[in-house]
Amino acid sequence: MSLSWITRADRLNILPTYVFARLDELKAGARERGIDLIDLGMGNPDGPPPQPVIDSAIAALAEYNNHGYPPFEGTTSFRRSITQWYQRCYGVDLNPDNEVLPLLGSKEGLTHLALAYINPGDLVLVPSPAYPPHFRGPLIAGARIHPIILNAQNNWLIDLQSIPQNVAREAKILYFNYPSNPTTATAPKEFFEEVVSFARHYEIMLVHDLCYAELAFDGYQPTSLLEIPGAKDIGVEFHTLSKTYNMAGWRVGFVVGNADIIQGLRTLKTNLDYGIFTAIQKAAETALQLPDSYVKQVQDRYRLRRDFLISGLSKLGWQISPSKATMYLWIPCPPHSTSTSFAMDVLQKTGVVVTPGNAFGEGGEGYVRVSLIADYDRLQEALDRLSSAGIRYG
Ligand SMILES: Cc1ncc(COP(=O)(O)O)c(C=O)c1O
Repeated sequence: MSLSWITRADRLNILPTYVFARLDELKAGARERGIDLIDLGMGNPDGPPPQPVIDSAIAALAEYNNHGYPPFEGTTSFRRSITQWYQRCYGVDLNPDNEVLPLLGSKEGLTHLALAYINPGDLVLVPSPAYPPHFRGPLIAGARIHPIILNAQNNWLIDLQSIPQNVAREAKILYFNYPSNPTTATAPKEFFEEVVSFARHYEIMLVHDLCYAELAFDGYQPTSLLEIPGAKDIGVEFHTLSKTYNMAGWRVGFVVGNADIIQGLRTLKTNLDYGIFTAIQKAAETALQLPDSYVKQVQDRYRLRRDFLISGLSKLGWQISPSKATMYLWIPCPPHSTSTSFAMDVLQKTGVVVTPGNAFGEGGEGYVRVSLIADYDRLQEALDRLSSAGIRYG
């Protein structure tokens, strides 16, 4: 029974409709009809976490003093392992006491950061397309969003010149994410330097999401915002263990960077949660200490799947240049179809699930995102089904 006097808070009504909801209905319908779905929709890595991570979680579970409330700010040893990892990967020094905060996954931290820093009416710069929490978090906090529309001609990079001066002067935060979900774009170090000088000039807080830090190929090494001189004065960077270590269900990530910015998030979070289960922090520590050979193996897996799918799609008319990072392909819809119509058509005719680009904002219209989260037999099956259904580019 629904009671008319129980009304939702306005902040829920502000959120744009979730394209995934309609897709979920169609997926459920297809499953009911017995269709064998090939779900390349979500960025949910297949396969288990590395065995040493599982072993370390099991050992930590067996320790009876690991089961109480964990420290709000994460265990000292996990915070230290994050700073060591940062030094090893990027040559950046961080203070484990105040420049690092473990999170219940980076989505949690990204969204709560918005609540910690945005007042209703504040102006926030967010690229479009973007990972949805980059705009949904600010919207929940009551922000006015200035979308920076990205495009293929500019290699999906933010064109800082396109931001009107009065907007830049008023803006409080800029969210960005390279290597990018969903566009797979990567940004050169000079781009990061330009963003830092732009943000310092206009006094804008930088929030960089380096979720795909290690999923890079062909010799490409992603840049950390914190490598750029002066970035730590004005910015923070988010990381996750979900993707590289297949730990999406474990809910563990972290934010690093400016101590004051992190303190605001910590203050909010001490009122919301009790931090991450200690056994999971132990396992995450083990993950960050794995040898480079593990990461290389993960990179090879996604690179080979990328090449396999690009080659198969080329026979169906798509010309896709290989992305240097992430676990996705970002592919244009055939002419005369929209992101939604194309994704729905593919689902209904083939049982293959892809994500419509407009789920990531208006700038994603005309594209779909394909996750490389299945092995060759399923990817081949997806290609065969597209071919039999006559789905081609052009
Ligand atoms: C850019 C980006 N940031 C963050 C996340 C979520 O990470 P987590 O599992 O740590 O919440 C994702 C997941 O797809 C992502 O694409």
